[in-house]
Amino acid sequence: MAQDKRGLELTAASDEAAAALDAALDDFLGFGREAGPLLKAAFESDADMPMAHALRGYFFLLMGVGALRPRAAKSGEQATGLPGTSRERAHADALSRWAAGDTAGAARRFEDILLDHPRDILAIRLAHYLHFYHGALAQHRDSVARVLPAWDESVPGYGYVLGMRAFGLEEVGDYARAEDFGRRAAAIDPSDAWSVHSVAHVMEMQGRAQEGIAWVRENEAHWEHKVHNFRHHLWWHQALFHLALDEADAALDLYDNRFRADTASDDVLDIANAASMLLRLHFRGVDAGGRWEELAGHAAGRFSDGIFPFFDAHYMAALAMAGDTESVRGHLDAMAGRSGGATADAVYDDVGLPLCEAIAAFGAGEPERCFELLEPVRYELYRLGGSHAQRDVFMQLLIAAARQAGRDRERRALVAERAARKPGAVAAWMN
Ligand SMILES: [Fe+2]
Repeated sequence: MAQDKRGLELTAASDEAAAALDAALDDFLGFGREAGPLLKAAFESDADMPMAHALRGYFFLLMGVGALRPRAAKSGEQATGLPGTSRERAHADALSRWAAGDTAGAARRFEDILLDHPRDILAIRLAHYLHFYHGALAQHRDSVARVLPAWDESVPGYGYVLGMRAFGLEEVGDYARAEDFGRRAAAIDPSDAWSVHSVAHVMEMQGRAQEGIAWVRENEAHWEHKVHNFRHHLWWHQALFHLALDEADAALDLYDNRFRADTASDDVLDIANAASMLLRLHFRGVDAGGRWEELAGHAAGRFSDGIFPFFDAHYMAALAMAGDTESVRGHLDAMAGRSGGATADAVYDDVGLPLCEAIAAFGAGEPERCFELLEPVRYELYRLGGSHAQRDVFMQLLIAAARQAGRDRERRALVAERAARKPGAVAAWMN
């Protein structure tokens, strides 16, 4: 039987087909730009590899576009219909669950696969992704810890696993160990954007803005031309460091010339980066010019995606701040009417919808209503997933709403709270 490069059994017509699939997976792990064509080449080697069908389905889902879910489901059916190992059947099942919105079920499946196959790096990465967007931080940390004993320098992809370990530790506040793992990973492969990103997060959370700017710049040459849209997120982090230093002009320059230079992109993380940065700049009194309208043009059609409410909150920011009231209403209605049995449904009901209504109220010039909607759910926002650094924008929204609504008691308390969390960030003291 064929094997992948980490020694896992793979149903494939030939070693060449298995190697072609490895190449597609490698590119995916490194956030490269060739994963699609490489997967196509793998299908040309062997059209009936269950893991190739699974990988294609996962690629559809990772794009975060509702319209691609049926195609992911079809890939799940194709993978299910092919003869395969128990691991391959488990992937087919995980994919089918995920495509149906049962992301909790998919995450459990990945963890189950990893008990038997701790070197299944695809399952590691996808569990990492889902735990992250579930806001399941302990699972996000422990998932990688459980598999690490099966890894060392001799196993291809070791650096990626160290990078994931780093990010899991960072999000639970274990910064020293996170930085150590992240730096080890980046030393193995400085073009590994996820590992570079993990270290940037440590610096963000510790208010090490100057170091953070230098860190992103130092590694840039390695990933700038290799990494797909995720490179925009690293430049977004660089802009965050500038904001912490109260350097709004530098942040806006990165917005225009780096992470939102491609205004044709409707990639979900690209939109989230951009909307998040424009909100933060808005809170600092920076005029967005026509930038909100540009983003709203991409966000308006995303009502029915219904993937994770974290994404919707950023679409909502674009729509609300651009004053597209019709799309705001449509988007809120779509979120209120969910009943598909998806893992995300309860998060939409409990947190996503109140947050999006709060954002809509802020955009409509109703800060008191924004505050009243957002304050009761502020300690539940972790359920949206995303990182602490990303969700900080909602804390800033709450502070801005308190200020505009004349709630000085609350504003003072919230600013003190935020500044205590990020004492090195000059801007945290200035709200
Ligand atoms: Fe990040």
